[in-house]
Amino acid sequence: VFRNHLDFFAAAKISSSFPPPTLPEIAFAGRSNVGKSSLLNALTRQWGVVRTSDKPGLTQTINFFKLASKLCLVDLPGYGFAYAKEEVKESWEELVKEFVSTRVGLQRVCLLIDTKWGMKARDFELIELMERSKTPYQIVLTKTDMVFPIDVARRAMQIQENLKKRKSIVDPVVMVSSKSGAGIRNLRSVLAKIARF
Ligand code: GTP
Ligand code: MG
Repeated sequence: VFRNHLDFFAAAKISSSFPPPTLPEIAFAGRSNVGKSSLLNALTRQWGVVRTSDKPGLTQTINFFKLASKLCLVDLPGYGFAYAKEEVKESWEELVKEFVSTRVGLQRVCLLIDTKWGMKARDFELIELMERSKTPYQIVLTKTDMVFPIDVARRAMQIQENLKKRKSIVDPVVMVSSKSGAGIRNLRSVLAKIARF
């Protein structure tokens, strides 16, 4: 399914402008700058369709992308972005929360965690919300090229241990680098099962 052409088809700042949920959806959530948009590019090998930036807070709307008529990938704005205006920040966060807890057709949330920094309070908040709404999610460790392999393994074990009592978590922690390409094929095959064939 990741060989299909990636088409941007909608952006939403408020829930009333979410497109109708006609396809199975996978959303990418996580702190600002964790590498959500880069991961979408790496998964689909279509660099440039999804915009990325070294300045945190680039993605300010919920962006919907289609892979043919099989799968919808959703790029969420990041949370915990320190420089945004308080009211803007809150409205993005509310939008993300509303999306992950109420969206019909949402089959999976990939919660991205920076391998170097690990999980923060905001990540746990989102996890609790997804547990309450019974939204299936999985953890994806990003930017593994930035740390030693032993530290990647340690981080994965630590997270696995931290989350082992959670019920809505699916699939083990996946480790990726959008830069080196490590783990990308594996994540593709995990997520391809969600697509419509
Ligand atoms: P927001 O839209 O602000 O929420 O950020 P985002 O999570 O979409 O992050 P984005 O993909 O824009 O990437 C942020 C920065 O991290 C960019 O400078 C990327 O080049 C860099 N980056 C992303 N993935 C990787 C990776 O696997 N390795 C390294 N070294 N850098 C990465
Ligand atoms: Mg982004």
